Amino acid sequence: MSSPLTYKLIHQDKKTGARLGEITTPHGTFQTPMFMPVGTQASVKTLAPEELKEMGAGVILANTYHLWQRPGPEIVKEAGGLHKFMNWDQAILTDSGGFQVFSLAQMRDIKEEGVTFKSHISGAKMFLSPEKAIGIENDLGPDIMMSLDECPPYFSDFEYLQKSVARTSRWAERGLKAHRNPDTQALFGIVQGGPHEELRRQSAQDLVSLDFPGYSIGGLSVGESKEEMNRMLEFTTPLLPQNKPRYLMGVGSPDALIDGVIRGIDMFDCVLPTRIARNGTVMTSHGRLVVKNAKYAHDFTPMDPECDCYACRNYTRAYIRHLIKADETFGIRLTSYHNVYFLLNLMKKVRAAIMNDELLEFRADFFEKYGYNDS
Ligand code: GUN
Ligand code: ZN
Repeated sequence: MSSPLTYKLIHQDKKTGARLGEITTPHGTFQTPMFMPVGTQASVKTLAPEELKEMGAGVILANTYHLWQRPGPEIVKEAGGLHKFMNWDQAILTDSGGFQVFSLAQMRDIKEEGVTFKSHISGAKMFLSPEKAIGIENDLGPDIMMSLDECPPYFSDFEYLQKSVARTSRWAERGLKAHRNPDTQALFGIVQGGPHEELRRQSAQDLVSLDFPGYSIGGLSVGESKEEMNRMLEFTTPLLPQNKPRYLMGVGSPDALIDGVIRGIDMFDCVLPTRIARNGTVMTSHGRLVVKNAKYAHDFTPMDPECDCYACRNYTRAYIRHLIKADETFGIRLTSYHNVYFLLNLMKKVRAAIMNDELLEFRADFFEKYGYNDS
């Protein structure tokens, strides 16, 4: 069986061990560390695929949970898969639905067989099992897919977390068995374990013994402190194979990206850039800026004077503020464009810094300007 995904390690930063690499999928190659913009419903909110491409996004994320409920995997399959359906010919990764069931749905009942819950869209009672999640992901057709996992609250009691981790491992194994397209779609296992090193170790060992083509780290950035997340990463990434990618799920603030890369992470995703953009907030070289604030009404400079994106080259803070205040959708298109570009560009600089063995110096310079209080 040939793997649909290859990871090539190009260089490791001499001081931190951070990895510069390359991931090849059936829909192209992208460099790592990489930030993956989130297209929950097969669309990165407000942005066209052509725009994402011109920014250098080689991979985007979509959600099994949402696409299963609407429009349904049958329709996506009938369209010829997600790539054709949404006109995106680069790599796509789908989350399994596990996290969304635990964060969005109500009335959850978790059993060995799977999880029953009430849809946050239709209100209907639904059932998701590891086999069903994989079946939906096989129909959707992304290049990289996730096993169904349970993401319990970070500070759940130890006995519960222990049972949950063991079940997530069994679910991962069941998903692997149910996977119909192992030659064209790479399935990742997800490490859980809350704040406990011994549970994280058990989870990583279970999944590594199943020999997935890549590993995700889940259950982080769920309310714990930055120091706590960094401590868990420092402990967990060394347990994962050197020759496979590591993906830290749901993390996208600049500080967490850089500190994750330093601890051996290759891939990240987060709704943060597009979510804050819709509320008039942008990330700039000097920290966050709320462009819709009154103080920018007469400011005819770009959102980030150091940014060379389409939005910053052509539009001013005053204009974008006006658009957002007037409910013109072009305003949030521009803030979304800039924020996604900002993170893709940050990762590009991080990759260059790794290549030059200067990641720690880059980190210090970046935070001196940006500030280290982003959340
Ligand atoms: N997205 C952010 N965190 C998680 C997680 O723990 N599991 C899954 N499946 N998706 C996530
Ligand atoms: Zn910009």
